[in-house]
Amino acid sequence: MSNSSNSAAADAEGASSSSKVEIVRGLNEDLAREYKAIIQYVVFSSTLKGAEYGDIAEQLKKHASQELAHALEVARQIDYLGGDPTVKGKEAEYSQESRKMLEIDLRAEQETIKSYRERIRQAERAGEFALSEALRDIIAEEQDHEIDLRDALGIR
Ligand SMILES: [Fe+2]
Ligand SMILES: [Fe+2]
Repeated sequence: MSNSSNSAAADAEGASSSSKVEIVRGLNEDLAREYKAIIQYVVFSSTLKGAEYGDIAEQLKKHASQELAHALEVARQIDYLGGDPTVKGKEAEYSQESRKMLEIDLRAEQETIKSYRERIRQAERAGEFALSEALRDIIAEEQDHEIDLRDALGIR
């Protein structure tokens, strides 16, 4: 192997390890967002009041378990990429007012979907296709969460 191809290989390796660092950083943001979602859904599904919100309270409980499954999967992916899964969640938000709380959850889901879209692009650029597939499964559920919240808020 000539010197020039050696350095090209080293450059390629350097690029892929720096993109891995970027992906891990992003995934830790996603993980912190999942922790926040778990807290919000656990608390809110048990405090939501009002007969008009009967169905959504049950759905929010389901969201809570799905967010936990997402957190476990994202942490597993971080570990696989050689990173350390964060122990810090983003700060959870809360409102006593049902409609406001649903709006808070909806905004959080929209942010989450945007972030996972970016992470899927990063994963594909880096050739991490198993990761991008796992993230696609997660994003499909986040989109269902968004729909549930929109329905409950009557803003379809
Ligand atoms: Fe999630
Ligand atoms: Fe979600």
